[in-house]
Amino acid sequence: MNKYEYIDLKYRPKPSDLVAKYRIVPNGVSIEKACEHIAAESSIGTWTEICTMSSRIMNKLKPHVYDIDKRRGVVKIAYTSELFEEGNIPQILSSIAGNIFGMNAITSLKLLDVSFPKKIITASPGPAFGIKGVRKVTGISKRPLVGTIIKPKVGLDSLGHTNVAYSAWVGGLDIVKDDENLTSLPFNKFNERIRLTLRARDKAEIKTGEKKIYMPNVTAETNEMLRRARFVKAHGGKYVMIDILTAGFSALQTLRIADLGLVIHAHRAMHGAITRSPEHGISMLTIAKISRLIGVDQLHIGAIIGKMHGSGKEVLSIQEGITAKTVNEDDKRDVLYQNWYGRNPVLPVASGGLHPGHVLGVMKYMGPDIVMQFGGGCHGHPKGTEAGGRAIRQAVEAVAFRRPGGEELREALSYWGK
Ligand code: 3PG
Ligand code: MG
Repeated sequence: MNKYEYIDLKYRPKPSDLVAKYRIVPNGVSIEKACEHIAAESSIGTWTEICTMSSRIMNKLKPHVYDIDKRRGVVKIAYTSELFEEGNIPQILSSIAGNIFGMNAITSLKLLDVSFPKKIITASPGPAFGIKGVRKVTGISKRPLVGTIIKPKVGLDSLGHTNVAYSAWVGGLDIVKDDENLTSLPFNKFNERIRLTLRARDKAEIKTGEKKIYMPNVTAETNEMLRRARFVKAHGGKYVMIDILTAGFSALQTLRIADLGLVIHAHRAMHGAITRSPEHGISMLTIAKISRLIGVDQLHIGAIIGKMHGSGKEVLSIQEGITAKTVNEDDKRDVLYQNWYGRNPVLPVASGGLHPGHVLGVMKYMGPDIVMQFGGGCHGHPKGTEAGGRAIRQAVEAVAFRRPGGEELREALSYWGK
């Protein structure tokens, strides 16, 4: 007889199950015992037997720990979808990523990956635009989209911000993005910045004959966030940006469900607190899958090179996780790869410490279906923002179309190196 309540190594997950993969370091108990605690606390159980439990509840709702790799401490748990409220991302996370991280039975726990069943995927809209839609909005089909984040992160007034944005667009960049901590500040108010910058965008479009994009950061309390997003729309904006983790998944859902016809650019500020430890927390892959489920169109996933932590293997697995359309032959063996039931793929964003000398490397690994963002790597160009924009565009066209680079690119490469 099985002495464990939740462990069943013969169980095969059903297509309707949600499967979660964890790495566990038990604290003074066997890995089996730690699995029991995790399975119970994330679903129907608690620390002791309870008189209110019945075999009916048990049989209907108990999760199955069906795979235990003792050497690596990696386990897979299949949860019946009955445990989850469709379309309620916080509820799903309160189950599979809730109390369990703080239990005494574990020293550390990392949620490595999640596979959502059809019922949960189809209850969320997914990205409204996705890669194809973004390419249509921007009119750029064959190369990465390139943009800048206005720097200093905060400090410029609205007019200063607008002038820097205009220079970057005229230099050749497609995108200007607010930084993650620029919202509505005493010296740079949201409404005024949006009005001025979108006007500058129109001027830059006339001057260059190209489509230009502004991504205003609408991160705020949810009612104010929606008001700001509507303000962007009313003033001719096509995009909004949101800090998905500091704002919260519920806020992101609110923005997506409002269906304002705006492309959603997702910044992941604070993810390092959750994702960085290999032993504890939630993987960026999991956060990326949740973001796709809710419906971001573009997501920061790391750049492999640059200033932010994140190995090539990790970044590429996230890219695969948010862009794969369906389960392919190889993936079929791993239940954690999933069929997205027509949900659009997300455009990955590479950003953080990039300069023109990194373009070849980033494109080599991540391909052309990406956004590349340069803050310091644009405004730090020895000849200023416009030249920085030119250098970046030249670098991307040199790699994508084998065009010869110009003087600005040469200057950037000799300043920062290749
Ligand atoms: C971002 O929001 O992606 C960062 O601000 C990038 O800035 P950097 O290119 O100067 O590192
Ligand atoms: Mg930033």
